[in-house]
Amino acid sequence: MSCYEITGGRPLSGSLAVHGAKNSVLPILAACLLVPGQCVLRNCPDLSDVAVTLDILRLLGCRADREGDTVVIDASALSRCDIPEHLMREMRSSVIFLGALLARLGTAELSYPGGCELGPRPIDLHLSALRALGAEILEEQGALVCRSCREGLRGREICLSIPSVGATENIMLTACGCPGLTTIVGAAREPEIVDLQGFLQAAGARIQGAGTSSITIQGGVPLRPVQYQVMGDRIAAATYLCGGAAAGGEVEVTGVAPDTLAAVLSCLEEAGCTLHTGPDRVVLTSCAPLRGISPVRTAPYPGFPTDAQAILMAALAGGEGATLFVENMFDSRYRHVGELRRMGADIQLAGRAAMVSGVGRLHGASVRSTDLRGGAALVVAALGAEGTTQVSGLHHIGRGYQALDKNLRALGADIRRVP
Ligand code: EPZ
Repeated sequence: MSCYEITGGRPLSGSLAVHGAKNSVLPILAACLLVPGQCVLRNCPDLSDVAVTLDILRLLGCRADREGDTVVIDASALSRCDIPEHLMREMRSSVIFLGALLARLGTAELSYPGGCELGPRPIDLHLSALRALGAEILEEQGALVCRSCREGLRGREICLSIPSVGATENIMLTACGCPGLTTIVGAAREPEIVDLQGFLQAAGARIQGAGTSSITIQGGVPLRPVQYQVMGDRIAAATYLCGGAAAGGEVEVTGVAPDTLAAVLSCLEEAGCTLHTGPDRVVLTSCAPLRGISPVRTAPYPGFPTDAQAILMAALAGGEGATLFVENMFDSRYRHVGELRRMGADIQLAGRAAMVSGVGRLHGASVRSTDLRGGAALVVAALGAEGTTQVSGLHHIGRGYQALDKNLRALGADIRRVP
């Protein structure tokens, strides 16, 4: 079991191009099922979650080939509609295939995606929306057996009680296969949804409104092969910037639009960092200990992203001053706190709230990644800590970060992967 060995205290310096967005490429790969032909995706990150998704596409009968950061998907020969349990367990967000398979084949079978490290991950909004569009969904012994009803799928208005990212995406994909107009009211507004709309529009779908809480899809339009460039990963960008904030120095990230992580940037600025932005880049300079900032409450976009909560907390824990965090999106997203405490962090938990009191500087320790973003947070903490930190549980980090250690070394960090 390998781990990262990080010796902190070295300021970072340099520029890096951030990889394609995990949370955009996953639904876009599912959307390729709607296209009976070859789609070419550029800036497709090499992550374990993406590898699992490509395996699922191949199992369903598609061709899926990678050459560098370009992936070619050919769904012409799509022949299966069932995703085996072991692959569903490996990646619960495979529920996104539900809508695409229903739209293309009129049927889908997958096992109920379980919870994950973040707590229960219900899919009730997905299922009720797809039923409203005409899907008959049986839930039996942990499996979901879905097929379009006798009259077939039909577009209609769908109101979401929570702006669920996954449910919004599943409805968008299903609606492409529904003749008639579908309107999603209360849609999630994340940039990854705008990216999915961009892919679908390029393939000929009549869809608009992504980025707002109302999305309309005129379904039943045949989609054509397309080449598409995936957006940059805003959470990976936030990770490198928080690493620069924790370690000090000057870090530039390119390939990301600053407005997609504006909530994180404003926190870093309030903490004392200097930021300069361009259309596709952010430059962060940090030369003093980070200050405490006003309360950080996670919320649907454009609010503060839950995926950056642990990462920002790790940077502030080694600064000065106190910051209150409130995690409103998931029930169990403070599992990294125990590991940060091993590095000397002073964090008090009370339900959804976490009070972080900066201790001036964390110290090295042996810590374990608890989940994807929690693991990245430990790396951020280690970059600013005194001494050496061992971070294990790297399979969590590999789900969402491409070459994290190599990229940080290129920025001057003392990090290496040891067996
Ligand atoms: C997506 O998950 C992201 N994953 C998550 O990123 C991200 O944290 C989350 O959106 C919120 O931004 C991908 O895009 C692959 P939700 P998703 O449905 O779609 C509740 C990462 O680290 N809910 O927007 O599963 C749910 O419990 C991952 O990259 C229901 O109650 O999130 C949560 O409290 C972690 N019923 C809230 O909505 C449902 O049917 C938001 O979840 C669906 C969701």
